[in-house]
Amino acid sequence: MLSRRSFVGALPVASSLAAGSQGGEPESPQRKAMEAMLAAAPKAEADPERPVYHFHPPTNWNNDPNGTIFYKGWHHLFYQLNPYGSLWGNMHWGHARSRDLVNWEHLPIAIWPSAAGENAIFSGGAIMGADGRPRVFYTSIGRAQPEQWMAVPTDDELIGWEKPDFNPVLTQSAHGGQTVSQWRDPFLFREAGAAYMVCGGNGGRSEGGSGQVHLYRAENEELSRWRHMGAVFEYRDRETYNIECPNLFKLDGKWVLLISPHRPCEYFVGSLDLARAKFTPESHGVLDAGDAYASNISVDGKGRTILWLWGRTNLPAERGWNSVMVMPRILSIGADGFLRQLPAPEFESLRGKEKTLPAGPLPESPLVLDGVGGDALEVEAEFSGGGAAAFGFEVRRSEEGNPAAVVAIERGTLAVGSARTYLGRVDRYRMRLFVDKACLEVYVNDGLAALYSPLAATPKDQGFAVFSRAGGSRGAGARLEAFRAWPLRPAMFDLSRFKL
Ligand code: FRU
Repeated sequence: MLSRRSFVGALPVASSLAAGSQGGEPESPQRKAMEAMLAAAPKAEADPERPVYHFHPPTNWNNDPNGTIFYKGWHHLFYQLNPYGSLWGNMHWGHARSRDLVNWEHLPIAIWPSAAGENAIFSGGAIMGADGRPRVFYTSIGRAQPEQWMAVPTDDELIGWEKPDFNPVLTQSAHGGQTVSQWRDPFLFREAGAAYMVCGGNGGRSEGGSGQVHLYRAENEELSRWRHMGAVFEYRDRETYNIECPNLFKLDGKWVLLISPHRPCEYFVGSLDLARAKFTPESHGVLDAGDAYASNISVDGKGRTILWLWGRTNLPAERGWNSVMVMPRILSIGADGFLRQLPAPEFESLRGKEKTLPAGPLPESPLVLDGVGGDALEVEAEFSGGGAAAFGFEVRRSEEGNPAAVVAIERGTLAVGSARTYLGRVDRYRMRLFVDKACLEVYVNDGLAALYSPLAATPKDQGFAVFSRAGGSRGAGARLEAFRAWPLRPAMFDLSRFKL
């Protein structure tokens, strides 16, 4: 058999694999990384607390969703991957695809540090090219300053990627004399016939108050030349020193800006003046008050705007895996001008036998529900609050009565562990809850609140209870108005194409 080097040398088209492409190395870093993952996979697979329907890599560490795009009938998900361990480091782009947002095919690692001087592939986004094929953009780390690079697919399954010789497509010099600190995470969109990119960073004031989102416009169809338009958004918030992973996109006739400010992501709904490069917010909220971070966006064949988020699990290195993707969420803007997020309805395909409970008042002490529970579960419930101080569910309760998480509505606020998000004082609270081994998601009142949280439970903790605490002099506890629950089957994670 020919070695990779002599094979490449023998090809008349060897120039397509010249410096700048990803393919020419004799000891392919891609192969090495994938072999390391396959060797580590059995350990991760054997962990009884590994989620079964939240997307996760074959093994080891993931963080941000990258380059999310719907193309030729497939949802493509790239993601920040450490192939060599289950803590952050060695950033590559992992890749998987799905027809239904639930069941996945793992594909070969898509992008890895390959060019001279490159040692990590940080986050980025995708956009359709003028030739009808996607392009991805990412932050290349390794030189004195981060650079924005582009990669081009070599096939319609988006398995092979090349980095054209014209890279980098953007460097700090685009900002004139100014330096944007922590400049990274390109996100792309098209509007009125032009292609745009935003990147996050900050204006260098270490005391805070200068998190920035910068806007660039493509100057050619190839998307290889870009012009800086200005800071489309500056967050004059003392608590914010930097912005990561900005997403700027149109939704229901408005513009939405998502930011990752080194604490829970926030959203702004507003308007965008592209000529002046200014985004003006009209409403603002926390995207997810739990442990989700680093958003990305895609628009699918049905025109749905899909939100992707990294879900932390905060595990020690010995577990052999760490983190998931939050269930993809469908976004819309409510009549009140605030964002709504609902889990993709495709997850209903995992439901087992339905269990219902009759409506009625709730008892004071937690009531363990017979026939409801387990570690892969969906619950849909409706409460009327009365004067109750708090009501809700205990999740993955041990036999001794200790829950891994309490999901409560307390005086108009959703509380999951220490995470809190305000819902308002209303008559009815409709809650949807998803338990998946070490992960929990809660959605309230048609997606007004959405919250992802890791769960620390042991395999024995399978109980599920409902509770209500009366509100002192104001009297009555809460009532359960409706209740349905389903055990959820595992989704499919197919490894058969995770090979070269
Ligand atoms: C967000 C982030 C990005 C960066 C990537 C590196 O979680 O810090 O800003 O590109 O992760 O893995």
